[in-house]
Amino acid sequence: MQEKILDFLRKEDGYFSGDQLSHKLGITRQALWKHIQELRDAGYEIVAVPHLGYRLDSAPDRLFAAEVLSGLKTKFFGRKIYYYDALSSTMDVAVELGMKSAADGALIIAETQTKGRGRLGRIWFSPKHKGIYLSIILRPKILPNQASLLTLLAAVSICEAVKDACNLDLQIKWPNDLLIGNKKIGGILTELNAEIDKVNFVVIGLGLNVNNDLKALVSQATSLKEEKKEEVNRVKLLQEILLKMEENYLLLQDKGRGKILEKWRHYNITLGRRIKVYCQKQHIEGDAVDIDTDGGLLVRRDTGVIERVLSGDVVHCR
Ligand code: BTN
Repeated sequence: MQEKILDFLRKEDGYFSGDQLSHKLGITRQALWKHIQELRDAGYEIVAVPHLGYRLDSAPDRLFAAEVLSGLKTKFFGRKIYYYDALSSTMDVAVELGMKSAADGALIIAETQTKGRGRLGRIWFSPKHKGIYLSIILRPKILPNQASLLTLLAAVSICEAVKDACNLDLQIKWPNDLLIGNKKIGGILTELNAEIDKVNFVVIGLGLNVNNDLKALVSQATSLKEEKKEEVNRVKLLQEILLKMEENYLLLQDKGRGKILEKWRHYNITLGRRIKVYCQKQHIEGDAVDIDTDGGLLVRRDTGVIERVLSGDVVHCR
């Protein structure tokens, strides 16, 4: 009901009369008043003027489903939203929902996480209302060994969305670190639920520093607000991220991986550099020459031997 009230108020430039609104919604004036109060408690500024009615002045900086859905241009990405004020990790909820056959493109979003996790067992710091912390459930028709393509796809989509929404240029460090000027601004975590030759579902997790103040970030990190020197509208940015992810997901399904790999090469800053890749107990040093068609990194050792790396931590040497 509250989503419907917001829809009506958003469509109206001026006031919407209480009589008209309660009539359209099929509820009493008293019930309408109660819903308006609840919306105010959630942070919506709704002005009420006798004889004129209600006017929506501002919405809170929250990633509420109603906010994200209003003006969302996707067909199925983010059409089903599970919103949480606080959560241990959006990944855990996404995996549970994935097992229960949640829809392709279902979105789990939290304003803060108490156990946000990054790659290689790291912690993802998730201060409340500052960043975007989300997981998306996908049911792609791909083989399990192609799942890392989705990580590349997600990284490319974030770069495109941030360019469109904030006019900032992100770079990708293989496989999925999002950087601005060598400082980390976001990261992607992909978790797979599969059988030997069939993907049941994939969860793509994204953590993005949006309105974090510099003093609250570690030295090698930055945020969009810091780079842009102004607050970023998280709802608009999230809508753009969902749109780009869906466009690229459909591109991958319709046209194959070529275009996604080409876009990834455009945004990456790893290829062509001297690197060290730390994977499990060993590390490989050499030149990052390319990625293969499944997104694996090809590293040429000084002996000339080319190694294929599927996961690990990359350090750029020069
Ligand atoms: C990385 O760079 O190591 C990946 C970080 C991924 C963090 C996101 S935040 C939303 C989702 N939930 C989590 O617990 N992790 C991912």
